[in-house]
Amino acid sequence: VSLRELSDAEFGGLRDLVHREAGIWLTSAKKALMVGRLARRIRDLGLSSFAEYHRRILEDPGGGELVQLLDLIATNETHFFRDARQFDLLREQVLPAWAEQAVAGLRPRRVRVWSAACSSGEEPYSLAMLLHGALPPSSGWHLEILATDISTRMLERARAAVWPRSREKEIPPELRKQFVMVGTGSQEGMIRIVPEVRSMVRFERLNLSQDSYPFHEPFDLIFCRNVLIYFDPPTKARVVAQLLRHLSDEGLFFLGQSESLAGQSSAVRQVTSSVYRLREPRDPNAGSPA
Ligand SMILES: C[S@@+](CC[C@H](N)C(=O)[O-])C[C@H]1O[C@@H](n2cnc3c(N)ncnc32)[C@H](O)[C@@H]1O
Repeated sequence: VSLRELSDAEFGGLRDLVHREAGIWLTSAKKALMVGRLARRIRDLGLSSFAEYHRRILEDPGGGELVQLLDLIATNETHFFRDARQFDLLREQVLPAWAEQAVAGLRPRRVRVWSAACSSGEEPYSLAMLLHGALPPSSGWHLEILATDISTRMLERARAAVWPRSREKEIPPELRKQFVMVGTGSQEGMIRIVPEVRSMVRFERLNLSQDSYPFHEPFDLIFCRNVLIYFDPPTKARVVAQLLRHLSDEGLFFLGQSESLAGQSSAVRQVTSSVYRLREPRDPNAGSPA
C-alpha cells in the first residue's frame, strides 16, 4: 500500500477526528498536506495505511497518538513581534497609560497576559520583553504571561527558547541588547532569551476547543492570533465567547492582522483593526469566570 494515496474515505475519517478533537477544519485542499505530514509518522509506527493509523488512534484514545496527530496537522508559523502595529500600540499607548495609572494609585502594578496559541514561543517572549522594558519588575511590577498551545512539540521548543541567529533581526535592537544572549562555542550561531524573561512565561498545553478553560483570574491582554482561521464557524464563535469571559473589563483582545470579529460578537468593540475590548464592563453579580 502506498502512503502517497489517501482515499477520500480515509481523509474524511481523519478530518472528522481532527475536527472533533481540536475544532480544526481541513478542507479537501488540505489533503496533500495531510499526506505529506502523516506518511512519515505512519511509516515510523510500522503501519501501512492511513486507515490503520486512524484505527490505532481510536483503539487507544488516551495513548498519545492523538496528540501526535494534532501536532503534525497544526500550522505553527510565527515570528517575533509579528504584526508590529499591535506591539506599537502597546508600547506607545497602553503600557504608558498603565504606568501612569499605577503612579496615581488607580491600578495595581500587576499585569496578566495570555498568549492563547503561542506556537514556538515567539509571541509570548515578544510580549515579555516589551513588558519587562516598559513596566520594569525592579519598579515593583509583577508581570505574568501564560502561553498555551495544543502542540506539545511546539511547547517544548518554546520552553527551550533557542533560535538560529538569523531570527535575531525580528527583535527591536534595544530589546535585543537587553534580553537576547548570543551563543558561543557549541552554541555558535544560536540565540537564546535571557533567563529573567524566560521565567516570566509559563507554558501549558491547552486545547482552545475544549469546554472550559481552567483559569480564574482575568487577563489584561489576550492574544489569540492566527489560530481561529483553522476553526469552523461554530467552533470559532464558541472559542471567542469563552476567551472573552477571561478578559478583564479594561483588557484588550488581539487577533491576527487579517482576522476580525466583525459580526461575531456583540460583546466587544473595536479599538483598532484586529484589537478589541469589552463593550460593557461585566455584570459584577455574574461572578468570576469558571
Ligand atoms: C499559526 S500559529 C500562530 C502562532 C502565533 N499566535 C502567531 O500569531 O504568530 C497557530 C497555532 O495554533 C495552534 N492550535 C491549533 N489548533 C489549536 C487548538 N485547538 N487549541 C490550541 N492551539 C491550537 C497550533 O498548534 C499553532 O501553534
